[in-house]
Amino acid sequence: MPPLVLIVDDERPNLESLERIFTREGWRVALASSGQGALEVVRRDRPDVVVTDLMMPGMGGGELLRAVKAIAPEVEVVLMTAFGTVEGAVAAMKDGAYDFITKPVKRHAIVKSVRLALERASLVAENRSLRERLARYPGEPGDGGLVGSAPAFRAALDTIRQVAPTSATVLLLGESGTGKELAARLLHVLSPRSAAPFVPMNCAAIPESILESELFGYERGAFTGATQRKEGRFQRAHGGTLFLDEVGDMSPAVQAKLLRVLQDGVVERLGGTQSVQVDVRIVAATNRDLAAEVRAGRFREDLFYRLDVVTVRLPPLRERREDVLLLAATFLRVFAERNRRSVSGFTDGALQALSAHDWPGNVRELQHAIERAVVLCRGEVIDLGDLPEAVRSATPGRTPPHAGTLTIAIGTPLEEIERIVIRETLRQTRGDKNLAAQLLRVAPRTIYRKLDRDEDGRLLDPGPDGDPPPDRP
Ligand SMILES: Nc1ncnc2c1ncn2[C@@H]1O[C@H](COP(=O)(O)OP(=O)(O)OP(=O)(O)O)[C@@H](O)[C@H]1O
Ligand SMILES: [Mg+2]
Repeated sequence: MPPLVLIVDDERPNLESLERIFTREGWRVALASSGQGALEVVRRDRPDVVVTDLMMPGMGGGELLRAVKAIAPEVEVVLMTAFGTVEGAVAAMKDGAYDFITKPVKRHAIVKSVRLALERASLVAENRSLRERLARYPGEPGDGGLVGSAPAFRAALDTIRQVAPTSATVLLLGESGTGKELAARLLHVLSPRSAAPFVPMNCAAIPESILESELFGYERGAFTGATQRKEGRFQRAHGGTLFLDEVGDMSPAVQAKLLRVLQDGVVERLGGTQSVQVDVRIVAATNRDLAAEVRAGRFREDLFYRLDVVTVRLPPLRERREDVLLLAATFLRVFAERNRRSVSGFTDGALQALSAHDWPGNVRELQHAIERAVVLCRGEVIDLGDLPEAVRSATPGRTPPHAGTLTIAIGTPLEEIERIVIRETLRQTRGDKNLAAQLLRVAPRTIYRKLDRDEDGRLLDPGPDGDPPPDRP
């Protein structure tokens, strides 16, 4: 099916002229004359690309952009802006717009931009389905894919098992990539609610203006553009679990609204006359130190206490180093099978680097590193060179313990020592050979000679009897 492009503009002639242009490209076209109307189309028809005017009465293009990204992050948005409001467009780029075009819109410019956005949308869709498949790899049965044997990690899993059968609100704390979302799903799966839906909601990404309609839904005709009744996430999660992700990043206004629902346990569709009682278990997660956010006045204390009933802290990977190799081996097995590569293990160098690295991105970083290595790896085992630079440089002995020093084993042949020192100096000077030569107080060509290389980095021919080549003039 040809791609669907949604055009949003409050001026009819603009809609019509763009419709003609896009139809000629063979694209399907949907039209909306307001932000709210556009959101309706986005929810219902999932266009591939949205082309919207920036300045519109009511919901402007910038707000529409944020709402679209919250509902359907894979939809690409191109903004059209009059000269003079370019600043607004620049801000919109930061919010995830794909591109902006200044008015008056030139045919070739808008077609080119939408075509690129379409390409990117299909790429992103591919990556996403890949990621989703990756997320479903098998771990220990019963642990919901969470792998680990370190005491701090097992303690977190034990708490999860213990509270899963109850309806208690659970707050998951942990750095990015420590497995909070997996833990939330495990809580749901192990609960008596597992047959009902698990509904995730990213609180950081939802603009305040659509929070209520997303959470509570609306009746047909509640506002212009509400052509159908829509169920909110609370109702969808009825009997199940609502996962409030990134709660630490909610704006104060959103915090206030959320607090009200949590207190009442009652939701009302916008434009509706009846309120419905919903039975929803709340699981919240954040990578922020929520207590500190409360002390700093950025997070409401009353909301914090509502969420902080049972807290589970997922430890960062550097606090459970004993799990690194276990996780690495698990990921290796999974990715090798998934990519149909017969990679079966790691070299000692690779293992050392994996153990020495600090993993600031936690399990997610490790997972990506192993996936990449499996794909890049030429042999049966993953070597140091197959790992990302950040991991590689953590090998003990490769990186000097302090910048500017080197550890060299006693008994290393002098020639080898020279080479090590030259290479490290070159690293420090980021490959600047003249600077390295100055630091080492030798002529630049001596550096090349000691490394058995010529000025272009090519290996020098050994002399007739294998001796190093003579000094060159
Ligand atoms: N213990 C674990 N065992 C196996 N895989 C894990 C584990 N923890 C995390 N992962 C994997 O690492 C990735 C990141 O995990 P997840 O999305 O749950 O992290 P998060 O804490 O929600 O991170 P963020 O704060 O960035 O949203 C996922 O692909 C997940 O499958
Ligand atoms: Mg997460």
